[in-house]
Amino acid sequence: MKILVINGPNLNMLGIREPSVYGNSTYSDLCNLINDHAQNKGVEVEIYQSNHEGDLVDKIQNAYNKADGIVINPAAYTHTSVALLDALKAVAIPAVEVHISDVSKREDFRQISFVRSYCFATIAGHGFNGYLEAMDLLLGER
Ligand code: DQA
Repeated sequence: MKILVINGPNLNMLGIREPSVYGNSTYSDLCNLINDHAQNKGVEVEIYQSNHEGDLVDKIQNAYNKADGIVINPAAYTHTSVALLDALKAVAIPAVEVHISDVSKREDFRQISFVRSYCFATIAGHGFNGYLEAMDLLLGER
């Protein structure tokens, strides 16, 4: 079982960006947490972050026939990107949408998610733990 964790723009700035919304832990803390969880569960994990929409599309396309599950936090592209939705549909790999913050309680422009219609679950507002919950959901799907 191989899980691909994809993080969109500005998530590399965790620990620096808006600590009142995203907390004080860093992106590298998040990666360590995910890697430890994968090790505990005995699954292979690859973690990828990009600030560029096309690179995220490429990464999803490259997962075709390689990854068994995708955890995706598209960050701001959640609210704008049909291209990410289409890429997920193209590879047809089970996917879970994750947001660190509770987007449902934030600005109106954060209420739309294009990838949501593809993902079989959405976890929002559970902080970094949401990524681990998403991995567990994918493990339950195998
Ligand atoms: C986010 C929420 C998005 O609205 C925002 O643009 C992000 C992070 C989250 O993890 O809470 O960059 O996806």
